[in-house]
Amino acid sequence: MSASRPSPAAPRRFIEPGQLWPDDRGVHIQAHGGAVVRHGDAWFWFGEDRSRDNDPARRCIACYVSRDLVNWTFRGQVLRLADPENIGPEWILERPKVYPCAQTGKFVMYFHLDGRLPGHWSRYSVARVGVAIADAIDGEYRFVRSFRPLGQESRDIGQFIDDDGEAYLIFESRPTKGFFIARLTPDRLDVAEQVAFVAAPIEGGAIVRHDGLYYCIGSHLTGWWPNANKFLTAERLAGPWSEPRDFAPPETATFGSQSTNLLKIVGTKQTAVIYLGDIWRPYDLPDSRYLWHPLEIGGGQLHLEPRGWMPGPWSIDVQTGEVAYA
Ligand code: GAL
Repeated sequence: MSASRPSPAAPRRFIEPGQLWPDDRGVHIQAHGGAVVRHGDAWFWFGEDRSRDNDPARRCIACYVSRDLVNWTFRGQVLRLADPENIGPEWILERPKVYPCAQTGKFVMYFHLDGRLPGHWSRYSVARVGVAIADAIDGEYRFVRSFRPLGQESRDIGQFIDDDGEAYLIFESRPTKGFFIARLTPDRLDVAEQVAFVAAPIEGGAIVRHDGLYYCIGSHLTGWWPNANKFLTAERLAGPWSEPRDFAPPETATFGSQSTNLLKIVGTKQTAVIYLGDIWRPYDLPDSRYLWHPLEIGGGQLHLEPRGWMPGPWSIDVQTGEVAYA
């Protein structure tokens, strides 16, 4: 074995919120603002790869695979894109979400594409979604196009795949002061129709369906700085949606994290819903951490560690759905 090759990391037993999270190579996972999707008998985690040695002209999306949600194997940078719409050197690609498509057998990635419009003050004035496609879930994604979904400005995006397989894009819309839920077309390459507009200025949106009720989470609009994230409920995706409420003690600012995804694990003994959040390090983004933790959910209530303690190490038996705490 070559002396320069890093030795494989020992298997880990627990997910440790807020800590460095080494992959199979022993390298801190680079999948910020991401989401986890199930495919076959494995889970795939996609996110912003902010590695320090990335080509500064490109924006990279990394993919990892796991069978236990604790140990993740790096599958590579599945997207290494150079400014696809000639936005300029500061162009932005954030919050990738991948939808497996049953109709075409392809995999479609959505992401937040942004940058400064000529003469505009904001680095986030382009406000579009980008779409890329691949033949394999961890394959190479090819850029297809970008657009404004429903003709609206779109910044943070979120993903929801319902139990019936329907796929939705959630996107924050600054001018309308709220967020949209839009159904995707069967080939996943376009937005088919608006399902809901929710007049709550929330980003980092994510949805899960649990016991016949939809739960949506998201954060306030405070950039990289954490705030008290909120949740809303509805009996139908189209609404009406409840008023936003806290799901973590507000003084903890969601334990320093921001929502990015909700992951439902349906086990033989119980169903677990896991909050996936980012702990951003604004002055050193590659060092940003993750806060993943099971939620207490049911009857219209949602809690992330209601005792107010910083969530500690935990693991899940993905067969039974049972959670264990260290
Ligand atoms: C946050 C957003 C992040 C990133 C950041 C930049 O509000 O959730 O994805 O865009 O702003 O300041």
